[in-house]
Amino acid sequence: MINKYGQRSIINITDLSVEEIDHLIEVADDIVANPTEYQDICAHKKLATLFFEPSTRTRLSFTSAMMELGGNVLGFDDAGSSSATKGESVADTTIMVGCYADIIAMRHPKEGAPLVAAQKTRVPIINAGDGGHFHPTQTLTDLLTIHRKKGEFGNFTIGFCGDLKFGRTVHSLITALLRYDNIKFVLISPPELKLPDYMKEIMREQGVGFEEYERLEDAMPSLDILYMTRVQKERFFNEEDYIRLRDSYILTLDKLKPAKEDMIIMHPLPRVNEIAIEVDDDPRACYFFQALCGKHIRMALILYLLGLK
Ligand code: NCD
Repeated sequence: MINKYGQRSIINITDLSVEEIDHLIEVADDIVANPTEYQDICAHKKLATLFFEPSTRTRLSFTSAMMELGGNVLGFDDAGSSSATKGESVADTTIMVGCYADIIAMRHPKEGAPLVAAQKTRVPIINAGDGGHFHPTQTLTDLLTIHRKKGEFGNFTIGFCGDLKFGRTVHSLITALLRYDNIKFVLISPPELKLPDYMKEIMREQGVGFEEYERLEDAMPSLDILYMTRVQKERFFNEEDYIRLRDSYILTLDKLKPAKEDMIIMHPLPRVNEIAIEVDDDPRACYFFQALCGKHIRMALILYLLGLK
């Protein structure tokens, strides 16, 4: 989105065109090929990480991305240590931080908070996850992982498994993949955690079909990509439901037996119980590689939004 000052921010993955995503992927690959060319490119630039909700990977990957570009990082990782506790609005916090930093990455438990903030600032805001809504940089991470492992966006069947109701990474990635051709979508979840109707409606409107399963075993043989997710405990209204559903799927080596040899297993992490540790050594497991891709693509995005690449 672009605000009244002409400032661009990334709130949803659709704020980036398919061509821009291709460009970011190229830059991410160039960063790996020519790291020294990038090590000082953000010297004297500052990234603020405003995390009103806990995060390890996303915050640290933004921090590490900016450090590898030679820039500096400031911010907070807990709303309790910000002036939000004094009653300051998110918009005010962001305008103020825009006086101290060149770019802001924001995570917030409330859907829409980064969008509200982005309307008021003179520096780019990157949505680092807003409630159950969007998570565009995880989607860029996922796209880079798919590109590096599969070589193209198309001609594959992707299965999303677990908490498809609250999982924002699932909603964002499906939204992104809808812009490409020849992708088959398979949705695997317990009935209580199905993909929200509004997402299914978007798929139907675009003429994109999908299959739904309750048992992972039934879907496994057809998949080229298996995207596992954690049951999102923090978005449940009662603990009993969470406890009943949290172990709906546990991927083991045994369950992988009918899977394709070249299927890739993705997970945005953190994993709780949904992938057994024994799977980590299977060549199809690529969730830690995915975390590495997250740093490269965030480096590319920071450079792009700062007009440096
Ligand atoms: C995801 C998130 O925050 O939505 N994690 C991440 O960004 N790496 C997935 C999750 O928390 O389950």
